Amino acid sequence: MRINLLRVLGLIMLALSSNAGAGLDPDQPTVFITGANRGIGLEFVRQYAARDWNVIATARKPGRADELQTLAAEYKHVVIEQLDVTDFDRIDALAAKYAEQTVDVLISNAGLTPKYRSAFKRVDGVDWDITRKSMEVNAIAPLKLAQAFMDTVAASDQKKIVMITSKGGSFELSPKMPMMYSYRGSKAALNMFMYTLAFETPKKGIILTLLSPGQVNTMDDMEQFKGIKIPNTIETDESVSKMLAVIDGLTPEDNGKFLNYEDGAVLPW
Ligand SMILES: NC(=O)c1ccc[n+]([C@@H]2O[C@H](COP(=O)([O-])OP(=O)(O)OC[C@H]3O[C@@H](n4cnc5c(N)ncnc54)[C@H](OP(=O)(O)O)[C@@H]3O)[C@@H](O)[C@H]2O)c1
Repeated sequence: MRINLLRVLGLIMLALSSNAGAGLDPDQPTVFITGANRGIGLEFVRQYAARDWNVIATARKPGRADELQTLAAEYKHVVIEQLDVTDFDRIDALAAKYAEQTVDVLISNAGLTPKYRSAFKRVDGVDWDITRKSMEVNAIAPLKLAQAFMDTVAASDQKKIVMITSKGGSFELSPKMPMMYSYRGSKAALNMFMYTLAFETPKKGIILTLLSPGQVNTMDDMEQFKGIKIPNTIETDESVSKMLAVIDGLTPEDNGKFLNYEDGAVLPW
């Protein structure tokens, strides 16, 4: 009884703390995006909003998410929710809140990427705090998110869960050299978590896929290292528009697959 009361109070607080539900259209599909205040996540918001989808855009610090706030002011069907993905109570509360609305496409995008200057450190230079945090943000939190939203997605029309991963988490595709220990290890863990979860999703009718966004120009550090050109870097709008096309075309055969942003081609683990 006490727990139920606390839960109800939590939901009331949650409702008061955001503009959630304000402009959501029950006749439009709904996408839920983590890490929506900048980079790839923000571009997902921009492109889904332009299609008139309902967008539940989450950010750790909505008060500082100026570009996201501008989009929410422009599109009434964009709502902003506070979410640090390592806060599992908050994930549960949001899943409960949107259970009736349902979520057609759940995009786990939030991620911890190493700073460019630390990317090539050898094992003696591994930062253990960042390594632990990377496992939490890049691998464990997406699994929690998928678990919490499973029924909310299963109740929707499209029933898609999309995990933004990286070729850095692929044994086959990552460069054959020591680099980015925390990032590569955590994305490989994410891939295996989802490979495993994909054995559970078909009985709920859910399509669960991992997507590589390509090498995307979102990092401040890239700009600081102007002399260093990372090969094949693309802009955020190109990555996201191509990922949207892949997400649109997902079929049950794509459940449990690791796909490329560009053409939906299956990538090796
Ligand atoms: N850019 C690339 O080339 C590339 C390549 C392969 C894969 N990816 C993947 O694509 C995704 C997005 O990348 P990006 O380049 O857009 O990254 P980004 O510009 O560094 O943005 C990362 C986003 O994740 C959020 N985030 C970090 N920790 C969080 C937490 N604990 N709770 C909630 N949000 C958190 C950040 O929020 P704050 O602003 O609050 O920090 C930010 O919104 C990541 O999963 C990344 O690994 C990117």
